[in-house]
Amino acid sequence: MVDLERIKKETFEKLGLSDSNSGVFYGKWEKFSEKDAITVKSPIDGAILGKVSVANAENYDKTVASLKKAFAEWSEIPGPKRGLLIKNISDALSEKKELLGRIVSLEVGKTNVEGQGEIQEMIDVGYYATGLGRQIYGNTIASERPEHVLYEKFLPLGIVGVITAFNFPSAVWSWNSFLAATVGDTVLWKPSSKAALTSVAVMNVIGKVLEKENYPNIFGLVNGRGSSIGELLSKDERIPLVSFTGSVKTGRHISSVVSGRFGRTILELGGNNCAIVSEKADMNIALKGVGFGALATAGQRCTSTRRAVVSEKIYEDFKKRLIESYKKAKIGNPLESGVLVGPLIDEEAVVNYEKAIVRAVEQGGKVLTGGKRFKNESKGYYVEPTIIEAKKGMEITKEETFAPILYLFKYSNLKEAIEIHNGVPQGLSSAMFTTDLREEEIFLSSKGSDCGIANINTSTAGAEIGGAFGGEKDTGEAENPEAMPGRLTQEE
Ligand code: UN1
Repeated sequence: MVDLERIKKETFEKLGLSDSNSGVFYGKWEKFSEKDAITVKSPIDGAILGKVSVANAENYDKTVASLKKAFAEWSEIPGPKRGLLIKNISDALSEKKELLGRIVSLEVGKTNVEGQGEIQEMIDVGYYATGLGRQIYGNTIASERPEHVLYEKFLPLGIVGVITAFNFPSAVWSWNSFLAATVGDTVLWKPSSKAALTSVAVMNVIGKVLEKENYPNIFGLVNGRGSSIGELLSKDERIPLVSFTGSVKTGRHISSVVSGRFGRTILELGGNNCAIVSEKADMNIALKGVGFGALATAGQRCTSTRRAVVSEKIYEDFKKRLIESYKKAKIGNPLESGVLVGPLIDEEAVVNYEKAIVRAVEQGGKVLTGGKRFKNESKGYYVEPTIIEAKKGMEITKEETFAPILYLFKYSNLKEAIEIHNGVPQGLSSAMFTTDLREEEIFLSSKGSDCGIANINTSTAGAEIGGAFGGEKDTGEAENPEAMPGRLTQEE
């Protein structure tokens, strides 16, 4: 048994956390204030981890003003030098990787491997950004006018606002922020109020590097609720670009507020990711890929596999073996070795899981395994990973429920499989399991997956930092040069 109390104590001490933490950073930490402070509970056992204070209108303003001031200087620093500062940040994160990963596990319930992976992703994207500091290229264009030069040059935008979700509480911030800072922007971070402690721990480590390097104000942090601080940020004319990761509903709102003031957005919203399993698939690879996609992070990734469409020729066999593998998946304390499925983030998430299952059954679905809250001795928020045999067109299968629920469909030909696959409003990630090159090519063509990300013989979940990440349809936009943290200008 892991001793959570001891792990918490040691991790807090080494990362400079306490029972009452300031959640506002603008080159220095604001004083802790009890008013509206977020009480952070661990989903592992429901115990209180500590408090994080939130921003108010006054210190929000102070933070934005400090980022604006810093931008004037930072944007003038050569790209390669800016990249070097990010490298130093990655080095500092490397030193504290284990501790930071543990905070992620304690606060949002990711397994130990996932928590460590979260921080490794920050480190990697930092080094990637460092290299990009030397690669801020533009085009030179043959002009139609004589003795005339036409070129395109990327210039920094200003302050980039980054609003992150609880499930990737620091990695997704770094995806946005390290690239933005390398191209000369400064960054305001509004983390999910379900992951406030991680933001403080990360900023504690990064803040020391910023101070040492004499650029204390290029990253600012404002904790707080979406309805107050998120709203201030979205409306703020001083923030030309807002990146948001979260639900379609909130994304739609933020998008309309930001575009209403002609700001730009990068949106990474809900996914309803599907895997097609052909009769020509390597069965072991398909079982592993679908299982990992559906169970990793307890189904709380925007890239989680929520639907599997399986060829009727192998359906029964696949179903049987998938159920067997689900029964073997260990559920419980995510810091214990061998545990594959940790808790959901909170009680509300458990209730949403239960409601989705009730609705699925009402609509004609059949629970093949799981379907209930998982009872163990702790007060954490555990559920049984669930597989539901679904009928085509069931409304619930068109929604994203942030939980380990997988809907299983049967198909008779590839056209039908793709129809089911694409028949949802969301379009983030997708997968096809097959060894047939022709099928693969169809899936990757415009006749195939309509998602931003299409995988062959691997899971819908699991992003790589080197490639574009994003979706189509209700998921928001995929990589879009207009929305990148730089500005395309023409200089003549
Ligand atoms: C991944 O699948 O490794 O919320 C990354 C999410 C995404 C990141 C997924 N923002 O799940």
